[in-house]
Amino acid sequence: MLFPTKTASIVTALLAAGSAVSASSAVGKAKSTFSTSVLSSTASATSSAASEVVSLAQWATLGVTQYPNIFDPNAVDANEVCSGYSLTGLKTTKTGLYGRLKLLKACNVYGYDFDELSLIVDYQSAERLNVQIRPIDLTYVYVLPETLVSKPGIDTFTPFIDSDLVFAYTASPFSFTIVRKSTGEILFSTAGNPLVYENQFIQFNTSLPKGHFITGLGESIHGFQQEPGANKTLYANDVGDPIDANIYGVHPIYVDQRYDTNTTHGVYLRNSHAQEVLIRDESLTWRLLGGTLDLYFFSGTTVKDVITQYVSSIGLPNLIPYWSLGFHQCRWGYNSSNRLSEVIENFRKFNIPLETIWTDIDYMDSYKDFTTDPYRYPLEKFQAVLDDLHANHQHFVPIVDAAIYHPSPLNESDIYPVFDDGIAADVYLKNPDGSLYIGAVWPGYTVYPDWLASGAQDWWTKAMVDWHQKVPFDGIWLDMNEVSSFCVGSCGSQNYSQNPVHPPFDVGNPATTFPLGFNMTNSTDLQYYNSVWYTYTHTPEPSTTASTTTSSTTVSTNPMNTKAPGKGNINYPPYAINHQQGTHDLAIHAVSPNATHADGTPEYDVHNLWGYGITNATYNALLEVFPGKRPFIISRSTFPGSGRWTGHWGGDNSADWAYMYFSIPQALSFGLFGIPMFGVDVCGFNGNTDMELCNRWMQLGAFFPFYRNHNYLGAIDQEPYVWESVAEATRTVMAIRYEILPYYYTLMYEASKTGMPALRALSWEFPDDKSLASVETQFLIGEAILVTPVLEPHVNYVKGVFPGVPDEVWYDYYTHEPVSAGPGENITLSAPLGHINVHIRGGYIIPTQKPAYTTTESRKNDWGLTVALDKAGSARGTLYVDDGESVAVEDFLVVDFVATQGSLYTFPRGTYDVCQPLASVTVLGVDSKPRVVSLGESKISNFTYVNNTIFVSNLQALTSAGAWAAPLVISWV
Ligand code: NOJ
Repeated sequence: MLFPTKTASIVTALLAAGSAVSASSAVGKAKSTFSTSVLSSTASATSSAASEVVSLAQWATLGVTQYPNIFDPNAVDANEVCSGYSLTGLKTTKTGLYGRLKLLKACNVYGYDFDELSLIVDYQSAERLNVQIRPIDLTYVYVLPETLVSKPGIDTFTPFIDSDLVFAYTASPFSFTIVRKSTGEILFSTAGNPLVYENQFIQFNTSLPKGHFITGLGESIHGFQQEPGANKTLYANDVGDPIDANIYGVHPIYVDQRYDTNTTHGVYLRNSHAQEVLIRDESLTWRLLGGTLDLYFFSGTTVKDVITQYVSSIGLPNLIPYWSLGFHQCRWGYNSSNRLSEVIENFRKFNIPLETIWTDIDYMDSYKDFTTDPYRYPLEKFQAVLDDLHANHQHFVPIVDAAIYHPSPLNESDIYPVFDDGIAADVYLKNPDGSLYIGAVWPGYTVYPDWLASGAQDWWTKAMVDWHQKVPFDGIWLDMNEVSSFCVGSCGSQNYSQNPVHPPFDVGNPATTFPLGFNMTNSTDLQYYNSVWYTYTHTPEPSTTASTTTSSTTVSTNPMNTKAPGKGNINYPPYAINHQQGTHDLAIHAVSPNATHADGTPEYDVHNLWGYGITNATYNALLEVFPGKRPFIISRSTFPGSGRWTGHWGGDNSADWAYMYFSIPQALSFGLFGIPMFGVDVCGFNGNTDMELCNRWMQLGAFFPFYRNHNYLGAIDQEPYVWESVAEATRTVMAIRYEILPYYYTLMYEASKTGMPALRALSWEFPDDKSLASVETQFLIGEAILVTPVLEPHVNYVKGVFPGVPDEVWYDYYTHEPVSAGPGENITLSAPLGHINVHIRGGYIIPTQKPAYTTTESRKNDWGLTVALDKAGSARGTLYVDDGESVAVEDFLVVDFVATQGSLYTFPRGTYDVCQPLASVTVLGVDSKPRVVSLGESKISNFTYVNNTIFVSNLQALTSAGAWAAPLVISWV
């Protein structure tokens, strides 16, 4: 079994510790919300309904059985049978090298070899080297356009002189090596293995040092490190968070942190095809199903350098609106506007800050985008709820699904203008014969926007702008955008007249998991539901497949799919990746690879970009909806560069401890993927959570940039007020989150300027300490705050390390006590339920604001400063303030803070006017009680000294012009 040891042991340990998840569901089989849906039409077995019941048929979901190559013991190893290329005609260019690679001998292992390739090496900047290899004849090759996915360009610098990276090569068989000039280290080397370049299979290898520490390569639920044995499948997938499998997004970037030389570099492969990366003791093998090799090497030399180098070359993340840092409540199953307002009121009643309420597909009319259910969410009532919400400075984010309902032509009243407008603008994906590609999702048979079609943006913008006039949303949640289809191939091509068809929801717990609006006490409903379920599982497959333009739905067990020239066999490529879905058919839970874009590009080439496309289009649309304001988007499927427009949530996790654990490595990975606005479904999505888990998770989630509680349709309620202890724990931790919002927002600003994420691994901040490499149970917020959450049940303590000691000092957030820990010592901290360990690092100054119910109100409160002195009695910090919403920020304020030798200095600059005064200053780590504390010329009698901490309060009168109106000096002697 190819299950990495470390991840396996984490799961085993957490399960043994009492997690509710079953071993099989944790190990690669976590429950999928959409596990079994594909549609077909058939007469229902129901006796009560006069009309035809149309449902899915199970056979239509199955696809053709693929035998993933990595599991096949007889699979041909391309390195064994291929001979590679030989380099000829190498020339230097202005920025590097150009040469041609000639095939030595055809091996045609999983496709047909290209005879001739070009090699381009560009020294792009002092830290970035680009190696491109692509066929000379590009007739059938997809070259990822720069207009679609940005391509790092050549900076103005002196190539060869400034670069710390050197390209070396062997001519025949061709191999190349990237060497670090300053140390002579080999960072990457294909020596010893042939380059394989076929129409549907490209492979290269690099050696890795023994004991390597590799991170990156997503998206998957996995420990932070990609240890030997890890197999990464990179193919966007609508699936409920299985461990160690391909899920929603694709990020072909890895970071190689080397402790022996204390250097780090990164490698990014700019390619949108399905890929697999195999990490072994001393090697990394990269396999691609097409496109070109467009490799970028980032020289570091620290991890933080690599992250900022990478993220700034794919596109810096957008600055989030300030309000999005508030708490978000969501669930699948807020099934009426009444219920929604009840939830909003409950939060208020229990005094738990609620910034944003979200609605899942429940609000839609039969799951159609840009509609509202006339019965459950009558527009006027819904609008009244939203008006109230907005009047209270709260926000609203609805889900928008990827697929667009195809109305039935047989039903005159089935009118869906958004669909019609899309037809008029010709914006939907097609079959190869030019007919509409029709898959199936929640509403029934659906079409799919083609983000490469020229009219797609305008159509989408209009839909958003029009809808906002009716439903005043504040941001958009993009779901199902891998892009998902519940059936294999264009299954609706012959059937859409039967719309709406009913996807069968999971039955789950009968008390709670029947379909939306299902009335358990109503026997007609029950009969109807049973009939749909029966039909789904019993409808026989027709003897002939519906259309030659669609993926085949025949089940076969042919282990090796056939090779084909040109573009090849795009539905069933000869190399079968380990797509984590049923039979591994690429079209399961996805639009089929042969769906065709406006420019003729098959989905095969750009499948991993669908989510990226809708995110970009939504970002542009929101700029029209809210002119001048920052769009707020959370998207499920992402790709390098998505961070420019969106944040991401971790998808359909489960309500168990293992997933709470994995949320930390997932967040760290998304930080390095350039998507810092990340969080997971707090308290868990699938399955029922419980009081203890939700208590711990509400506390942990409060320290992630994106903080949202969300759960599955059939699960029990899990709003934090459901249990008194969770409510209390949440109030405690939200008070901290809202207090440090100015610090958090400053970090998000930094992320938008440099690419450095707010949430950080200990190993990034303390790169010299190898013992921290694999710490993923603790994390830092910026450089100054260390979070040590409890990640297992039934304990009242937690173990944690305190990096940098004894040189560093760490203060308990609550008591201000310095921690007593030795270097590398895993000490035990008290952590009763309701308490999360948070420590402040000496040497840092944290700007704060008194917390309030919403971020808008918090922003109006007085300021504070927490000054945590280091061993030398010094500290520093920065604050960034603006209006929290403008795209083009004109007025901002930056305040630098320095504390040294008994004085704190503030240095404001900028034009953004902050009128709230500075109310308090807390100085930690002061050895003795000061005789005098003063602000400028004024002596302050109003201070206390407890536990080596000076508390200075009631400074408002002295700073009434605004905390940062002028420089301040606060001294203690
Ligand atoms: C899948 C999403 O991942 C989940 O969060 C959502 O609740 C369901 N779709 C229903 O819309």
